[in-house]
Amino acid sequence: MAKKITVIGSINMDLVTQTDLVPNRGETVLGNQFFTIPGGKGANQAVAAAKMGAEVSMIGLVGDDAFGHEYIDYLRNQQIDVSNVKPVTHRKTGVATIVLSQGDNSIIVVPGANNMVTPELVESLEKEITACDLLLLQLEIPIESVEIAAKIAKKHGKQVILNPAPFQHLPEALIENADFITPNEYEAELLLASITDPAPLRKKLIITKGSEGVTFYEGEHERHQDSLKVETVDTTGAGDTFNGAFAVAILEGKPIREACEIAAAAGAISVTKLGAQSGMPTRAEVEEFLSDRKGDWA
Ligand code: RIB
Ligand code: NA
Repeated sequence: MAKKITVIGSINMDLVTQTDLVPNRGETVLGNQFFTIPGGKGANQAVAAAKMGAEVSMIGLVGDDAFGHEYIDYLRNQQIDVSNVKPVTHRKTGVATIVLSQGDNSIIVVPGANNMVTPELVESLEKEITACDLLLLQLEIPIESVEIAAKIAKKHGKQVILNPAPFQHLPEALIENADFITPNEYEAELLLASITDPAPLRKKLIITKGSEGVTFYEGEHERHQDSLKVETVDTTGAGDTFNGAFAVAILEGKPIREACEIAAAAGAISVTKLGAQSGMPTRAEVEEFLSDRKGDWA
């Protein structure tokens, strides 16, 4: 039987405005282009993992609105099991307003239905959660729910990967129940500064550094994997692509170093296209990219 990944997390519609000028307070500017495209860290990571060949089921909530229904159909078309993605009537589908200018982005997330993924809901899905081999989590749903999900998964001997984004203070139990914690450089700094004893955390860290590559630990030893240079169009979702691909590689039992290499390649490919999910590569694309670029590390 194929191994399974479950993602419990956010589903957002991304409202992306591409502009040369970014308005100052009180100012109006004319932008270039506008897109409505699927996003949200949870769904992004689910799609990245599915494209890399894993069997993925998603647990999350949308609003009973056009974005919500469109998103569920879309995930189903991505071969993701959506039996536990439900519309709720009293909240709207999460949205992210993204301003994209010269390859940089700024994002405002309004969680809406994502905030209704409560600890009670997660607890009621114990059977569904434990049907997977690996649970992939982020912090765009209430952190208490993330904490319970990790606890349930660990209790049943499943692997847990936590992408601590956007940054929040992590409860000790959550750190304990995660096998890997995957902040970016900025989140890693905040995380390490926020706890009294960083030693147990440090060994679980996989720190993504964008075009600078990724830092990870083999036992006590800090290692670094460079990133391959690419033409950057949009970095939105690059971290999510990394996490989805990393999860698939870990699920397959790849050593951490190789998992980081595969995930960094997937992340690099993803930034060459506009939109969080549009550039996410298939397994074959990642393998081709890695073999074409052998000896070509930045
Ligand atoms: O990580 C990128 C994602 O963050 C975007 O898709 C947006 O929805 C925000 O949640
Ligand atoms: Na992209």
